[in-house]
Amino acid sequence: MFYSNKQYGIILSKKKKEANLAKYLIEPINKLRGEITVSGAKNGVLPIMAATLLSTEPCIIHDVPSLKDVSVMVEIIRVLGAKVERKGSDMRVEVDEIKRTEAPYEYVSQMRSSFDVMGPLLTRTGVARVPLPGGCAIGERPIDLHIKGFKALGATVEIGHGFVEARAEKLVGASIYLDFPSVGATKNIMMAATMAEGVTTIENAAKEPEVVDLAIFLNKMGAKISGSGTDTIRITGVEKLTGCEHTVLPDRIEAGTFLIMGAMHDSDLLVKNVVPSHLKPVIAKLIECGVDITEEGDDLRVVSSGKLKAVDITTLPYPGFPTDLQAPFMALLSKVNGNSTIMETIFENRFAHVSELNRMGAKIKIEGHSALIQGIENLQSADVKATDLRAGAALILAALSAEGATTVHDIYHIDRGYNKLEEKLGNLGIHITRIIE
Ligand code: UD1
Repeated sequence: MFYSNKQYGIILSKKKKEANLAKYLIEPINKLRGEITVSGAKNGVLPIMAATLLSTEPCIIHDVPSLKDVSVMVEIIRVLGAKVERKGSDMRVEVDEIKRTEAPYEYVSQMRSSFDVMGPLLTRTGVARVPLPGGCAIGERPIDLHIKGFKALGATVEIGHGFVEARAEKLVGASIYLDFPSVGATKNIMMAATMAEGVTTIENAAKEPEVVDLAIFLNKMGAKISGSGTDTIRITGVEKLTGCEHTVLPDRIEAGTFLIMGAMHDSDLLVKNVVPSHLKPVIAKLIECGVDITEEGDDLRVVSSGKLKAVDITTLPYPGFPTDLQAPFMALLSKVNGNSTIMETIFENRFAHVSELNRMGAKIKIEGHSALIQGIENLQSADVKATDLRAGAALILAALSAEGATTVHDIYHIDRGYNKLEEKLGNLGIHITRIIE
């Protein structure tokens, strides 16, 4: 059955109340055998949902994960005029008319990637007003590069009263150099340029697979984009975009989380529905730790003894080691043999999980942008708190290899990005219980 907008809204508000009070009780495991399937990518589907605002025709999206962030994006595009229907992991979006050009604060404030609607709104209607996304648990996260791009395309952009407002009679293609290969700015500028007059080039563009998937989606809508996945993306503006059908790429961060989980135990775990080339740096580091990883078509098999070696990691833009797996990998390194270092170069404040891991007995020190990890034999159970999405994933991994049952609080962060986690882990025999107070 497809849910209507209204039915969906009621379900969402009930779920939201429950989710904010929820915590996980997690029991440790010794062995891990079996298989686990990765869902469609959170960071892939969110900009694709924003991109549906570009056309009057319906778009069908497959493999949409059932996540809090997806629900928030549904609410945002609905307010802007979208009719959204969901059935299982299929979503149909039709935006025959943009009803509002201002994104609602109550939703945008919950999720930074709601800023993705700015580019599509601007190019379709000539005006977009979106609340400033603000900082978040992992740092300041400015939007100067998005704004630089919109201005280069000919928009006037004003910031005031907590909003960013962009206006343009018409957008005209331009050459835009990004000072940093920002994923969000690349996606937003790419969407804005789809219907600009002439050719736009984005230099020093982000090369993440989610940027490539968005370009594939936009091209299916009739856009003319080449070079995605390289430093230079070229967009030739078209008059209008059409509807299309698309399956979201597999979530490489979810896949990486499961690979790390497998590595931490006596395991033979098949992680299904992955694109191995998207996970090269993670696979390389796991192998360096002493884990066996083999490709089996679209699946990866991780075989581990659970006894691992220390490694050093530096997070970098793709194809470097992803910042989103820094916290989960730190959970692993907290109990390997030897000392490791993790240097975080993408976000200035992404170490909130360190104090929580230390509550579990880990020996981790922060020095500037680096975490120095002294591996220990065993983690201990404790009450810990998920401070953000990936910090939450790290605590789940730590809990699975701790002595005793661990309680992870504030799991609404984890609900933002891991689809059906209890069900997926439960199928592997893991005892993870959601407790709603
Ligand atoms: C996306 C991902 C997030 C991931 C991140 C880096 C989504 C929904 N989120 O976030 O999971 O951790 O990429 O891989 O896809 N920056 C600026 N000015 C800007 C924009 C960004 O200075 O205008 C800086 C940020 O502060 C940060 C760095 O660039 O230090 C990376 O940010 P960016 O690549 O834009 O990440 P997001 O798109 O926000």
